[in-house]
Amino acid sequence: MTAPIVLITGASAGLGVDFARQMSAEGSRLVLVARRAERLEALAAELGNARAVALDLSEAGAAERLLANLADHGEHVDCLINNAGFGAGGDVATIGAARQRQMIDLNCGLLTELTALVLPGMIERGRGGILNVASTAAFQPGPGAAVYYATKAFVLSFTEALHEEVAGTGVHVTALCPGPTKTEFFEVAAYGDSSRLEKFAMSSAPVVAAGLAGLARNQTVVIPGTVNKLGAQGHRLLPRAVLRKVAKLVH
Ligand SMILES: NC(=O)c1ccc[n+]([C@@H]2O[C@H](COP(=O)([O-])OP(=O)(O)OC[C@H]3O[C@@H](n4cnc5c(N)ncnc54)[C@H](OP(=O)(O)O)[C@@H]3O)[C@@H](O)[C@H]2O)c1
Repeated sequence: MTAPIVLITGASAGLGVDFARQMSAEGSRLVLVARRAERLEALAAELGNARAVALDLSEAGAAERLLANLADHGEHVDCLINNAGFGAGGDVATIGAARQRQMIDLNCGLLTELTALVLPGMIERGRGGILNVASTAAFQPGPGAAVYYATKAFVLSFTEALHEEVAGTGVHVTALCPGPTKTEFFEVAAYGDSSRLEKFAMSSAPVVAAGLAGLARNQTVVIPGTVNKLGAQGHRLLPRAVLRKVAKLVH
């Protein structure tokens, strides 16, 4: 039997590197995607059972170009790890319209398009897995990072709905909602004072392990870590008006 093919977006840093390492150890063949080609090539060489595709996934048409690349190699996607994403700290009025649009295009648009393109094949084959990386940011509005929080609320809602849509088809669908995690995320997002969030940051490897274990048992939503699990319950305990003020204090 040929090894299953796993497509990992955002595999040049952070969680994506650990997804690649852990899935490589399971014997899958990997396709690693991000913009920084050298990092992807180095990781592919280290793992042995992976190849790199350098692509800006926020650009229109990126999903179709990526899947055309797989088709050229005679590959179909058995497992999709929708991990590429970024945040941006600052108020909506100050971050810049183009960057906020790019965040929506990558965090939501690309994730949705890739999912829609690979899903029919998975359903036809009666098996497959889609892991969408959301965030604990998905559980409340986030003044000071409004668009990022909203993109992750989209990912969580979309993934939960999709999980129900494909029930019984053999396709597993899981949303992974990490809290603060030690990656390049905070550097990229340039949150004003991220130290408050980073203080509670988990290492990336256990976050990834929890996500993959959840996908294997087809768990709808995975929140790794006790502090994150408790934090994500805020919306059950506090009125939304209070919740968003608490979130504002964090940024
Ligand atoms: N770290 C956290 O605290 C945290 C918490 C909750 C959720 N998350 C989510 O976890 C996911 C992974 O983030 P991370 O924490 O691992 O951050 P990271 O270390 O900054 O990695 C982000 C990855 O996304 C890729 N990426 C960014 N823009 C891209 C683009 N336009 N086209 C292609 N690839 C692009 C980056 O590669 P290139 O720059 O090479 O393109 C990199 O591989 C994201 O969806 C993030 O929102 C992170």
